Amino acid sequence: MNDFKILPSILAADHGKFIEEAKAVDLPEIEYLHVDVMDGHFVPNITFGPKVVASLKNHTRFKLDVHLMIENVDDFIPQFAKAGANIITIHQEASRHLNRSLSLIRQHNAKAGVTINPATPLESIRWVLDTVDLVLIMSVNPGFGGQSFIESSVEKIQQLAKMRQEGNHKFIIEVDGGIDHQTAPLVKEAGAEYFVAGNAIFGQADRTAAIRKIIQSIEARQRQKKTIIT
Ligand code: DX5
Ligand code: ZN
Repeated sequence: MNDFKILPSILAADHGKFIEEAKAVDLPEIEYLHVDVMDGHFVPNITFGPKVVASLKNHTRFKLDVHLMIENVDDFIPQFAKAGANIITIHQEASRHLNRSLSLIRQHNAKAGVTINPATPLESIRWVLDTVDLVLIMSVNPGFGGQSFIESSVEKIQQLAKMRQEGNHKFIIEVDGGIDHQTAPLVKEAGAEYFVAGNAIFGQADRTAAIRKIIQSIEARQRQKKTIIT
């Protein structure tokens, strides 16, 4: 069993056939689908709402990792939880009372995640680190798929992993944006466990081969590291 997970982001899939697209990534290694919800206010793009989440829940076997890039999160958390979201992640920048919103997610029996944009410092989430199940480090500016990975995210993940260790926290570190077979090994080494990938999977004709390519790139790097150490 791997100590990391790849989460295909359906933002990059054909929006006319989500269920079919989800089934194209049905490998035993895939536990979650990443679902990007955008409202046209917090980010300059609009995607989909709770109904699409409910359809994915009803017609596929996947758990759902719902990334809310929206304002007024408290108005929508209950709806996404009822639609079947297993993880709900909210932006620090879009939440007026972050602590309260994270509690609301938990009250609705979903795992609570917090995320920050590339320009937002880790310090802004320090005081919620003991109450979250997951921290998502954005490695692109949210709003669109297919953007280039922002290199400074590697150091940010390293620092977050250090904060986790020093604080004896248990949260998962997830990374989202520009993840492919070249960047995934770097963020794995920095300390992340969940890797969201949109374009690198749904932008390829053979989706399962694309997933395997990312997994193998991480495993190859891990083997290389072991050889150097031993
Ligand atoms: C960006 C979204 C990402 C997006 C990643 O705002 O949060 O989840 O789907 O897409 P890629 O992997 O293509 O950068
Ligand atoms: Zn996302």
